[in-house]
Amino acid sequence: MGNQLVLVLDFGGQYKELIARRVRECNVLSQIKPGDLPLEEIRALDPIGIILTGGPDSVYRDGAPHCNPALFELGIPVLGICYGIQLMAYSLGGTVTPCAVSEYGRTPMIAEPTAPLFTGLASEQIGLMSHTDQISTLPHGFVSIAHTDHCPNAAIWNAEKRLFGTQFHPEVENTPNGTQMIHNFLYLVCGAQGDYNMRDVEQRLLEQIRSQVGKEHVVLGLSGGVDSSVCAALLAKAIPGQLHAIFVDGLMRKNEGDAVEAAFQNRELDFIRVDAADRFLSKLAGITDPEQKRKIIGTEFVRIFEDEAKVLKQRYGKISFLAQGTIYPDVIESGANNSANIKSHHNVGGLPKDMEFTGLVEPLRGLFKDEVRALGRQLKLPKALINRQPFPGPGVAVRIIGELTKEKLEILREADAIFREEVKKYRGRKPDQYFAVLTDTKSVGVVGDFRAYSNVVALRAIYTTDFMTGVYVPFPHSFLSRVATRIVNEVKIGSGVSRVVYDITGKPPATIEWE
Ligand code: XMP
Repeated sequence: MGNQLVLVLDFGGQYKELIARRVRECNVLSQIKPGDLPLEEIRALDPIGIILTGGPDSVYRDGAPHCNPALFELGIPVLGICYGIQLMAYSLGGTVTPCAVSEYGRTPMIAEPTAPLFTGLASEQIGLMSHTDQISTLPHGFVSIAHTDHCPNAAIWNAEKRLFGTQFHPEVENTPNGTQMIHNFLYLVCGAQGDYNMRDVEQRLLEQIRSQVGKEHVVLGLSGGVDSSVCAALLAKAIPGQLHAIFVDGLMRKNEGDAVEAAFQNRELDFIRVDAADRFLSKLAGITDPEQKRKIIGTEFVRIFEDEAKVLKQRYGKISFLAQGTIYPDVIESGANNSANIKSHHNVGGLPKDMEFTGLVEPLRGLFKDEVRALGRQLKLPKALINRQPFPGPGVAVRIIGELTKEKLEILREADAIFREEVKKYRGRKPDQYFAVLTDTKSVGVVGDFRAYSNVVALRAIYTTDFMTGVYVPFPHSFLSRVATRIVNEVKIGSGVSRVVYDITGKPPATIEWE
């Protein structure tokens, strides 16, 4: 028996993942699918409910994304959020027009507690609004169940057809009771039984892995990051004795290779450490384009796995499977599901077409990061490993702007190690991710009585919960200047470092990594 499923139909809204995660936090499986998913496919998936996401468009504009209006006649409860509520109203004969007063941010509203969406909640609520259009006439059969000062239809309901809409975003933290509203929709309207939990997920994944690989041995690309580590632990449990975890060293931070090796000693898997620094350096010589760097690194990783697999094959017979710790956001960010391809995350976008492995084992590709961590805890991986800050697959190569050289690698590693050391001592709230970047700019500095023309290092530190958005860490100036002084004074490789800058750009508009 599969889990009950809620479909999240995507109309281009930035919060689609958040919606899917909230549903899962309520113990109901969710999947994100394109907004124009054909009705037959929806029927085949047999969801207990459908949520329509927000989106940047106006429903009345030519070319705006639409859904088949028959979606609302399937008898499946639907919750439309922001663009989703407008699409629902517009598709069913209501009218949507520009707001006289647009609403942005936390907005007080009066909700109708007798409506299932607001059961158990007070009538005074706060909702995060972000809209320039709104429903001006309701479609037949709908009533308003919440309003703000400027929005008469902040939430709507068609009781007979079990259709709901909210102009505000219940999925974000700025709607304080939003999760309760989603919970109400799932349990009071869709008939959710709460059958999605990590214990069952683990069991299901173990069975899937066993039936996919049978008695074959599997090669896993282990980076030492959370995803590939959890993947390794899961595979080791599913197919003990059949897993060969290949740790490709060469683009890690200072001392990181040894730390990863230590973490995987005495575990039930075959840990193979390959020092590939020279291999990467020669393949990346002269390459400056970030996407090309990622692709080359991705390809080289697979070539290394293939080389190792050839050796393993002689002992263990055919090895056709490559396992990797791809997770759901990687799949979404790499252009699946119609999202824009922001960066090729090498473990998804960059696999070479002529790869010798014929099968991929990616047991985590349906899970969000917090779920992967929960699974890791369940599999008794050490805390330090599970809570480790994320590290990009292409390693420090994407933190060295432009061409990669041995000298630049060393400069970056030293500067980054100093920053890490200082952050460790820092008493304030620690960043969720932080690192040094070696820019491709040189700048003039004064060393003793001499002018030096040397490297500029940038520091990046981010607060984020989902790594999809984030804000820079407002470190005290005293802290930043200590780090800067240490880096300029202590990094002595090549021409050293003459200047340190701090990146204060949020995501969006910038990404977290520089390349
Ligand atoms: P961006 O730079 O896109 O990064 O804001 C979001 C998060 O993803 C990590 N990242 C990567 N992880 N392969 C990975 O496995 C990659 O190519 C890659 N690029 C970025 C990044 O460190 C941040 O946590």
